[in-house]
Amino acid sequence: MHKSTIIHQLIPNLNQTNPREKSSAFAPANIALCKYWGKRNSELNLPFNSSLSIALANKGAVTEISINNNKKDKVVLNEQEISAEESFAKKISAYLDLIFSPQRKFFFDINTKINIPIAAGLASSACGFAALIKALNELFVWQLSDQNLSILARLGSGSACRSLWNGFVEWQAGSRADGLDSYAYPLQTQWPELRIGLLLLSEKVKPISSRDAMKIAVQTSPFYQNWVTQATQDLQQIKNSIAAHDFLALGKLAERNALTMHATMHTSWPPINYNLPATNAAMQTIWQMREEKIPVFFTQDAGPNLKLLFLQQDLKKIQDYFPDLEIITPFSNPIL
Ligand code: PMV
Repeated sequence: MHKSTIIHQLIPNLNQTNPREKSSAFAPANIALCKYWGKRNSELNLPFNSSLSIALANKGAVTEISINNNKKDKVVLNEQEISAEESFAKKISAYLDLIFSPQRKFFFDINTKINIPIAAGLASSACGFAALIKALNELFVWQLSDQNLSILARLGSGSACRSLWNGFVEWQAGSRADGLDSYAYPLQTQWPELRIGLLLLSEKVKPISSRDAMKIAVQTSPFYQNWVTQATQDLQQIKNSIAAHDFLALGKLAERNALTMHATMHTSWPPINYNLPATNAAMQTIWQMREEKIPVFFTQDAGPNLKLLFLQQDLKKIQDYFPDLEIITPFSNPIL
């Protein structure tokens, strides 16, 4: 099915529009505990495996959008206007081209504030696209279902489909060629004691995008098929550990899942390795802490930074080792 047919199916009232003057929306960043890695369709961002994430509460993107009369988009990111040639602006305009295809009638002023480092493997594109589609939905009063918003966010960036809710979110991979069964939904379980620590080791833009890295891994890693099998098992076990509030099981499964994903990259050709010396050193510290019976685990995305998983009761001990950790309380707000 052609992309614009899919869009029209998702936004039935796309052409009957009476837009508001302005709209604004927030979407939280999300960190996968069971990763999405590899696409069965790279145009529609359809994954081989299902995944599960946790939202970073108030860390994310606020996007304000209004229609302009200039026949081109104006993108402002964290108070700075971005040139149309920069990848952030290009991605947004390409996404708007897709939504309003085949011929764009509307151009926009888009003002986004993201309070996490951009493109450093901290899920900035996920919250960016989720906030954008929410803001468009408000602007044009489309009144879309969460399911359709999730599918539309996925078309911007796969993991964006999980950035529409707080708390734990599952993305079912689906099997349809048009991707209409590939969307996310929130899990009801809350876990107030759970903490995420952002260990920022580098704010540099990643050397290779997750889109390209995934493609190389799917095509060349001898372990790619094992990844899909393992991730599918991990997802079920991670869901069980969340339901049981079994932190040791969750931490182990999430850390091993991230390491398995990175193993597909290390064994790709050309090899991909996002680790910096500081990443490896932090992993060693975390493993040493576990030897000392401190229950702390990590996960890692397409970048050198780590996200630590632990419980509130161990916060002080964790801070002794990582004093600069940014602490997220994922269940501080009610689930959206
Ligand atoms: O949504 P993308 O294309 O930025 O890919 C995200 C990939 C990972 O962050 C590494 C894993 C995940 O599930 O978020």
